[in-house]
Amino acid sequence: MYYPEELVEEVRQKNDIVDVISGYVSLQKKGSNYMCCCPFHGEKTPSFSVNRARQIYKCFGCGEGGNVLTFVMKYENCTFPEALKMLAEKAGVELPKAEYSEEARRREGRRQRLLEVNKEAAKFYYYQLRTDRGIRAKEYLDKRRLSDDTRKNFGLGYAPSRGEELLMYLHQKGFTDDLIRDVGLAKVDERRGTTTQFWNRVMFPIQDINHRVIGFGGRIMGDGDSGPKYLNSPETEIFDKSRNLYGMNYARTARTGNIILCEGYMDVISMHQAGFTQAVASLGTAFTPGQAGLIKKYTKDVFLAYDSDGAGVKAALRAIRILRDAGMSGRIINMAPYKDPDEFIKNLGQEAFQERIDHAENSFLFEIRMLERDFDMDDPEQKTNFHNQIARRLCDFGEDVERENYIEAVAQKYHIGFENLRKLVVNMAAKTGGFAVQTMERPKSGVQGRNRNTPEENVKKSQRLLLTWLTDYPQLYAKIKSYITPEDFTEELYSRVARRMFEDIEKNQFNPAGIINMFEDEKEQSEAASLFTTKLPELESEQEKEKAFHDILVRVKKNSYAYYSAKSGVDISALSRVIEGKKALEELNKTHISFH
Ligand code: CTP
Ligand code: MN
Repeated sequence: MYYPEELVEEVRQKNDIVDVISGYVSLQKKGSNYMCCCPFHGEKTPSFSVNRARQIYKCFGCGEGGNVLTFVMKYENCTFPEALKMLAEKAGVELPKAEYSEEARRREGRRQRLLEVNKEAAKFYYYQLRTDRGIRAKEYLDKRRLSDDTRKNFGLGYAPSRGEELLMYLHQKGFTDDLIRDVGLAKVDERRGTTTQFWNRVMFPIQDINHRVIGFGGRIMGDGDSGPKYLNSPETEIFDKSRNLYGMNYARTARTGNIILCEGYMDVISMHQAGFTQAVASLGTAFTPGQAGLIKKYTKDVFLAYDSDGAGVKAALRAIRILRDAGMSGRIINMAPYKDPDEFIKNLGQEAFQERIDHAENSFLFEIRMLERDFDMDDPEQKTNFHNQIARRLCDFGEDVERENYIEAVAQKYHIGFENLRKLVVNMAAKTGGFAVQTMERPKSGVQGRNRNTPEENVKKSQRLLLTWLTDYPQLYAKIKSYITPEDFTEELYSRVARRMFEDIEKNQFNPAGIINMFEDEKEQSEAASLFTTKLPELESEQEKEKAFHDILVRVKKNSYAYYSAKSGVDISALSRVIEGKKALEELNKTHISFH
């Protein structure tokens, strides 16, 4: 869906940035800015600043910045159209409805219909849990110590023994048997007619990231009850088990910077109840690459809280590989002596679990530790085998530094001499075809900073500085416009911003937050925002300022000159820039630009 720029701008202008951000975090007025601790990275002293006049925000710690739309996208972890919708609703601006093709409209209508069936079924189950009939289910949830809030949050319910009641209810709401079957809530059989999938079970609605019920899990309440412990909805048009995760609708806004992956619905619920709202679980099936992809949209940092039994370890080893293939890092939470997070938290509580998170084991070291179990270390032959296996796995690290670090860690832990292990690894690589080629992007730890001090970064920095100077002193533009053009900003995005900024200043309608709207991508918005918010040197006197500004101007121009000179051999149009640049530089050298 494309929204015209004027509309986006209207939505932005009707949502004051200070008001909106205040709805999420508490801001403190400091001079002309509002400050708080940055919600996007952990910090103890506030470096997150919101400016009402310019309608932009910026964190001087992590570099995150943008306008009100950027903030909502980032905070809510949502797309540009989603953020726009939210803010439009808030301000009472009506957005045009998408124009779909006949086919798309039909498909969308059907999806909506299926989702409605699920929503009504969830309501029905929810209500049943609160009637006399649901008393056993209620007692069961009491026994599992789930609070009322938790039950409500996860929409827990009860499917009564007599399945007809759900069917009657759904018929009353106008849904046909076919639709009820297609969403996986019933089976239609010639002999037995329509029978419901779930009966006499505690019900767990499964929601997608937008809180829509896409399927159900149902659990028996006692050992005597019939059927498997958990029963799930089958895959349907709206229920793709490989691309959704239980609890993700809450975990996506948990703001912990990591996700905790567990095995069961109950684990997720217990964890959320204990405050670990970043917990998610797969849907009765093994963890998939599709689910890794879903998590990766939010974070690359995953903790595994799988069961401590044999099956749990096996599942964890599989999940580690899937995460690694997706370029993510996994760490394993030790649950001993308990079986799963639910039991752990019930017995040892929230703080103890947090400690386990803090001491989670690196996934590679976990793999090696599990491997060790297959060998008898008292037997020299087996021990050698074990060492060879370690060496083979160490070859998978393509980066030298990383590999060396792991060799060191493993050598220390298993009392192998560092040099010996290293030799073993090198020999192994020679035998098996070298070290892995590093193609995959590797997860980096910590806040992603700019690569400081590279020549490219220095060039970009001076371009950012120049635009920030002009943001603070737009009147300067008239004085420098004969020397500088948008093409002098050699970064594509910078040049687009500069062009628009210069046009707006000429028209006397420059507003930074509006320019950020040119971009829909959150990263681009942040990058654009950085052009208006780079930290300028703190200078007292007019003279110092004028000198600093002049220096930056010359630096940008010189870089542009060098850039186009290098290109002029292959690109004719670059040549005219070179000539123009040379002239401008000469003139600039003789010119004094005053701030008045
Ligand atoms: N599961 C399933 N079908 C089963 C058993 C388990 O689909 N017959 C799935 C469910 O998604 C369940 C998860 O596997 O949440 C983990 O199962 P398990 O470890 O057996 O259960 P717990 O999570 O410990 O659940 P509870 O504490 O309720 O026993
Ligand atoms: Mn359990």
